[in-house]
Amino acid sequence: MVKSILTVFGLAASAVLTWAQTTPTLRNLADARGVYMGAAVAPIFYDSTEPDYGIVLAREYNMLVAENIMKWSSLSSGRGKFSFAAADAMVAFAEKHKQAVRGHVLVWHEQVPSWVLTIKDKDEMRAVLKEQVQTVAKHFKGKVFAWDVLNEAILEDGSFRKTPFYNLLGESFIADVFRWAREADPTAKLFYNDYNTDGINPKSIAVYEMVKKLKAQGVPIDGVGFQAHVDSNFNVVQQRSLENLQRFRNLGLEVQMTEVDVLLAGNAPKAERLVAQAKVYGDLLRTCLAVKCTAFITWGFTDAFSWRAANSPLPFDSDYQPKPAYFALLEVLKNPTAPIPTTTPVAITPVATTATLEFARFTTDASKSVQGGAIVKTEYSEKAGDSKVESLTVANGVINVKYKLTKQAGSSFAGAGVGINAVPDGKTINAQGYTVLRLQVGSTQATSLRIRISGSEQAVINAGCYPVVFLDVNPELKTYSIPLEKFAPPSYCAANGRTLAQIINSVFIIEVVDEGIPNTGVRQGEINVGTIEFVR
Ligand code: XIL
Repeated sequence: MVKSILTVFGLAASAVLTWAQTTPTLRNLADARGVYMGAAVAPIFYDSTEPDYGIVLAREYNMLVAENIMKWSSLSSGRGKFSFAAADAMVAFAEKHKQAVRGHVLVWHEQVPSWVLTIKDKDEMRAVLKEQVQTVAKHFKGKVFAWDVLNEAILEDGSFRKTPFYNLLGESFIADVFRWAREADPTAKLFYNDYNTDGINPKSIAVYEMVKKLKAQGVPIDGVGFQAHVDSNFNVVQQRSLENLQRFRNLGLEVQMTEVDVLLAGNAPKAERLVAQAKVYGDLLRTCLAVKCTAFITWGFTDAFSWRAANSPLPFDSDYQPKPAYFALLEVLKNPTAPIPTTTPVAITPVATTATLEFARFTTDASKSVQGGAIVKTEYSEKAGDSKVESLTVANGVINVKYKLTKQAGSSFAGAGVGINAVPDGKTINAQGYTVLRLQVGSTQATSLRIRISGSEQAVINAGCYPVVFLDVNPELKTYSIPLEKFAPPSYCAANGRTLAQIINSVFIIEVVDEGIPNTGVRQGEINVGTIEFVR
């Protein structure tokens, strides 16, 4: 993860400024629907070196769940010994930001204190289990709106998992833990929670049968959590997810998606995998809303702190930038029944920007430019032969390039895009201050665009000594604000010794390039570039 380099300049700054505030957010769309959008959190919001963590959480989510710190092993260091400080601090964060808290988890066979696992006596195990459930549920009474009372008690083949609790107490411990939880906190909704139950399969059938039986016996269970730890090949239609969830709803139970994350699967170019991931996120949320689920929770929110970080499974990337998955969630919250436009071009409407702080501004007509000037390259190809620009139009402040991109054998990078030579009329950019590049870009495909700024010196350009940043964009023309110091790494080309300040103080070229490289064949798309400005 890239930390904000602005701290070098002694400025309090936040990487979340690197993308424009989308209004509405997940949070206010969820509020409007009366559903919880939640994220699992670690106590990172205490960390002053990670300011964006808390900012994004507070902005996007109306509910939090502890990823680890409410688990048995986190709360208890020995029999009868409980320490709630970290979990209480999380609750305090949520209260401060008017967020609900979901409790996770009272009984699970993992992350259990080791002394519990040494218990051999049935009555002792029962007493210890009751003490755990009731101490914790009582402590958070009134603070937690729902509890995962029991986690992962069923195996893939539909049989009971042979946990230390099951082995000593048999099936009856299941009804007991729900009853104890209700006794300790009569207000919290009580959930059974499991994974690989997101479609119809032997495991989900067994869970269904179990909760049906519990309901019939009058055991206090209010809902079932579907973890939805899946990958980008997950297909809700093939899995019959809707039918699956609906049958639980038909038992009069609440349904929540409790730990959603979607691993990037396969070997396709990253941009394509991000689109596939976005589709799965959208489909899961749409399925959830279709059965009137009460919560949709992702297991973390930034790839930086995911338990499965290697596969970038969350809606925000490691720099807290929203990924296509984020926008898919946003779209579904706006309109749960509409298909998500991931490949179809949408109409591009230029967004008016305020020019009050601008230093230099790209417009399509240099003579009308207020403080800077611009020359639009009418054709751009990262490597001759890799791409063919089929058309390039400039209208209403928007450059629109249609191109074909072909992978050339041996090329490490292929691109097609637009370059804008901005001439800042003798002005200099003070890179020591808080300078932001604000640009509007969109692409007909959800993809990753490469933005690079280069100075006028040919030696620097040839040597590749320029700052580069990648932006995940979707079909909408959106404004992104990128603090220039964030271009990484600033000393990109140590051998040639050009700093960012040196580059942007001279005439600069801003290039917007599609970095998607197909394995085979031809890629067609459009990159739309609207207003570009430097602001301070
Ligand atoms: C995971 C956490 O994300 C990890 O940080 C931890 O090391 C292990 O547990 N199902 C659950 C969650 O119910 O509690 C698990 O969380 C992921 C699987």
